[in-house]
Amino acid sequence: MRKAVYPGSFDPLTNGHLDILQRGARLFDQLVIAILQNGGKQPLFSVAERREMIAEAVADIPNVAVEQFEGLLIGLEPNIVLRGIRTFADYEFEQQMAVLNRQMRPDLETVFLMASPAHAAISSRVVKEIAGLGGDVSAFVPPAIAQRLKGKFSAR
Ligand code: PNS
Repeated sequence: MRKAVYPGSFDPLTNGHLDILQRGARLFDQLVIAILQNGGKQPLFSVAERREMIAEAVADIPNVAVEQFEGLLIGLEPNIVLRGIRTFADYEFEQQMAVLNRQMRPDLETVFLMASPAHAAISSRVVKEIAGLGGDVSAFVPPAIAQRLKGKFSAR
């Protein structure tokens, strides 16, 4: 059985993430979405909130599961990592991670999918910025997540 992990901060999950994981779910028998900490980022949503939002968004994809992990990505059981690439900036970051991860765990392979053009400009960071300034993010994230963002910022 081919099992892969799709790691990320998912703060929050966007339509771009959803596109990658829907396509990834067709490539692997099982796909585990792993919510991990990105050392350089301070999250808006708690891990529990992110997990709940993701579980809701992927409920109709049978071979996808959501987990949360602390520590290094190479500590996870699957030896295939799925990541999406939107831009050259992504490529630089991903190249460094893939090379270092494989140096630390030689049996690990990272598989990349190119973002669909419709989602290539979406990031969790810009979605939070738009929502934080009162903008409409319903074109960029699943409806329930757009609602959560509204709630989060109106409570501040
Ligand atoms: O969604 P992001 O923020 O681009 O995801 C980055 C993430 C969480 C996959 C990356 O920061 C990561 O793998 N973090 C876990 C800690 C780790 O293994 N760091 C070493 C990377 S070489």
